[in-house]
Amino acid sequence: MKSDAGHNSRDHFSSQYGALVAIVGSAVGLGNIWRFPYIAGVYGGGAIILLYIVFVLIMGRPLMLTELTLGRLGQGNAYGAFQRMNAPGMGRLIGSMGILAAFIIMSFYTAIGGWTMAYIFKSASGGFAGASSQQIQQIFSDFVSHPVWPIVWQALFLLATMYVVMRGVSKGIEKFSRLMMPLLLLLLVVMGIRAITLPGGMDGLKFLFKPDLSKLNPESVMAALGQVFFSLSLGMGAILTYGSYLSKDADIVKSSKYVTIADTVISLLASIAIFPAVFAFGLDPTSGPGLLFETLPNVFGQMPAGQVFSFIFFFLVFIAALTSAMSLHEVVVAFAVEEFGMRRPVAAWLISLLIMALGVFCSLSLGIMSDFTLFGKSVFDLMDFISSNILLPAGGLCMAIFLGYVLSRPVVETEITSGGRYRPHLAVFYFLVRYVVPIAVFLIFLNGIC
Ligand code: PHE
Repeated sequence: MKSDAGHNSRDHFSSQYGALVAIVGSAVGLGNIWRFPYIAGVYGGGAIILLYIVFVLIMGRPLMLTELTLGRLGQGNAYGAFQRMNAPGMGRLIGSMGILAAFIIMSFYTAIGGWTMAYIFKSASGGFAGASSQQIQQIFSDFVSHPVWPIVWQALFLLATMYVVMRGVSKGIEKFSRLMMPLLLLLLVVMGIRAITLPGGMDGLKFLFKPDLSKLNPESVMAALGQVFFSLSLGMGAILTYGSYLSKDADIVKSSKYVTIADTVISLLASIAIFPAVFAFGLDPTSGPGLLFETLPNVFGQMPAGQVFSFIFFFLVFIAALTSAMSLHEVVVAFAVEEFGMRRPVAAWLISLLIMALGVFCSLSLGIMSDFTLFGKSVFDLMDFISSNILLPAGGLCMAIFLGYVLSRPVVETEITSGGRYRPHLAVFYFLVRYVVPIAVFLIFLNGIC
């Protein structure tokens, strides 16, 4: 282990609360509000949600703590942190997988981020007022299959992300998230209540919370695993990078707990707002990526001042997406700046152009390129699959092995407890990191591939 030299020259979060908000900002995003409900719908509801919660407990939470520990111990980006922990090989492996994953995720994440921006404007201009559920579906499919508009919105979303990242760790967005995140939570609760009180809405809750275990198969188990990594921003160094900005006496055990709980609660709330509407309006729960955009405008239509709520809601989703996209972008920018000595703005522009080059195909694959498939999947689905189901779990597996077997236990414990300041019980954590995470990820991979 190298000494702590340089520790003070790096940026750090100013307070434990500020750090927590930033990490929650990375975790809570489209993964919770857009992806979780649509994956739950595609794979049959209750059973996969139950499995998801089990995976969060046995893998998500311990890996959240693992990444925070590695970041704070290594004091560097996903690649550089391992150099400082005298494990350059591990850094090359995890760093390059993480950077690849960041590119791939950004290519479709920016597309959906663009949709949320378009929907802010559609809501403001009263685009959904008085529309039937068929018309709302039509508005969505006309929008995403248009050859130009989704790409324009995607580019705007990416520009917004880049603008913030280019300015460094921005106090503005941190303050902004502090205000916005609680508002998002509140609005989701309001939407949830409206949705479950719709006639026929209860069927949605049954779909969500009555597990039918016969619906589980290797594919859905892999999807649940991928969702845990995606939603908690794990396996690619985003949390590790943020961990490196944490102060040495922050209680990372507590942080990992709060982030995990907040993330899970928001995913469940989003589903409670969406599924009753799916059933009440006779929509198809397995409709995929469009689910959020095809269901909630119906619920807004049934609320007083629905247009205003719709506007606020999509705005908050946009903010949630932005704070997550920043962390994805930051992983690559930090790497380019720290390892190649690139100037921050140059790195940010270059990376954005590369993301856009791939991202255009993701957008088009929902429209004019929808007939083009690779391995039986559209470009969009393929990018999602490679990152969430392969790269992130593989990265998480490597980090678990590194913390569990390569680092010495006293070094890890000193870091986690801030030199004995906190006294968490680490036996369960160690057990999960050393045995449960590696074995489970390995078996799920094997099962999914065979
Ligand atoms: N966790 C983010 C979300 O739920 C997405 C993300 C994945 C961010 C991986 C960073 C790293 O939307």
